[in-house]
Amino acid sequence: MALLTGSNKIKTAVFISGKGSNLRSLIKFTKTIKSPISIELIISDNLKAKGLKYGKIFRIKKKIFNFKNKKFTENKLISTLKNNEIKIICLAGFMQILSKSFIKRFKGKILNIHPSLLPKYKGLNTHKRALNDNEKYSGCTVHFVNTKLDSGKIILQKKVKILKNETENSLAKKILVEEHKLYPKAILKIFSL
Ligand code: GAR
Repeated sequence: MALLTGSNKIKTAVFISGKGSNLRSLIKFTKTIKSPISIELIISDNLKAKGLKYGKIFRIKKKIFNFKNKKFTENKLISTLKNNEIKIICLAGFMQILSKSFIKRFKGKILNIHPSLLPKYKGLNTHKRALNDNEKYSGCTVHFVNTKLDSGKIILQKKVKILKNETENSLAKKILVEEHKLYPKAILKIFSL
């Protein structure tokens, strides 16, 4: 794909629930000329998500949705995405499971980053489970989202070695550093096909 500039960039929403370090790395990526996307919207299910501060810092619109009534909320969310002409959704530490109908509506347009070498360790507590199983390697995966949890087509993975005295915390930190590089690479990969 040729370089996209300014308003030609693909309008993207990033969904977060927590710290938002992947959001931050994606924002940094969008500041580079090679980025095919621009982040227009930050969505969170959590009013207290630390990552929401990046909305203020980088002047990106942010919206908080309460997912208690999923159907109702997703309908409002769809309107918001439409109104902002969002074409791509990047889940970045977003801890809600989106409904099948929402995912179908945005088929092929939702990406997720997951802290394991999928298909191993879908779901939560990935680092703990990898350590308990005495795995030699773990890592992270960027994949398309389909209606089965953490099961969509894999775009890119990065492997990291698990050291002898590795803890859940040290492994999480090490993998997060790789996540920050992998997500932009995966976006470049899908838009250069
Ligand atoms: C990241 O490690 C991400 O892979 C993980 O949550 C963390 C969010 O960190 N996502 C999941 O576990 C999704 N199932 P961040 O808020 O600092 O980007």
